Amino acid sequence: ARDDRLVGHRVLITAGPTREPLDPVRFITNRSTGQQGFAIAEACLAAGAQVTLVAGPVNLPTPPGAARIDVETAAQMHAAVMQQAPAHDLFIATAAVADYRAAEPAERKLKKSAETLSIELVRNPDILASVAALSERRPFCVGFAAETHDVIAYARDKLQRKRLDLICANEVGGGKGFEADDNALHVLWDAGGVELPRQGKRELANALLDVIIERYHASHGA
Ligand code: C5P
Repeated sequence: ARDDRLVGHRVLITAGPTREPLDPVRFITNRSTGQQGFAIAEACLAAGAQVTLVAGPVNLPTPPGAARIDVETAAQMHAAVMQQAPAHDLFIATAAVADYRAAEPAERKLKKSAETLSIELVRNPDILASVAALSERRPFCVGFAAETHDVIAYARDKLQRKRLDLICANEVGGGKGFEADDNALHVLWDAGGVELPRQGKRELANALLDVIIERYHASHGA
């Protein structure tokens, strides 16, 4: 470890997209690469934390020292996280969880016939809100809010609605955020906030971890 700020602390991180099957060969997903979450995992490891990384389908090597749990669907990610969360001190939800899944994925490959096809989608559980609602052994909860517009207003709303300790808001679209090598964040908490300017995802992960550790210790009376 580079330093010992998180020695003895356990951090649970979700990263990447989820993949929601439509039939045995097709799925709905999104453009998340998992880079930001993996970079945060590395930063936590460098600060001496014990890290569990719950990853959707991504093409990234496991940061040395992290315990990795691979999942595909939001339901699988939800199950893995709810099982792990009580044994962790911090939960950092970077995953771009699909909001909806097919109500009934087809058991056989869908055939083309009619000119239009409708697929019924149902809401996925909100993993971060579920962890933040734990009444016992609730970790310090950090969320992300990727928005194309009104970034700060939506993030403030999300902070309160999901009962988070910290939210990191970023602008996406037009080459920002997803699939970009750098990123900028507005980090917000109940009584304040700080801007982290555009920089590489690795440097940003380190700057963000400084804020997370400060707020985490502040909320634990350190
Ligand atoms: O509501 P929205 O999807 O914008 O919230 C984003 C934040 O919530 C991210 O931290 C994301 O990882 C988390 N999230 C989640 N489970 C969902 C949806 C979002 O954990 N089903």
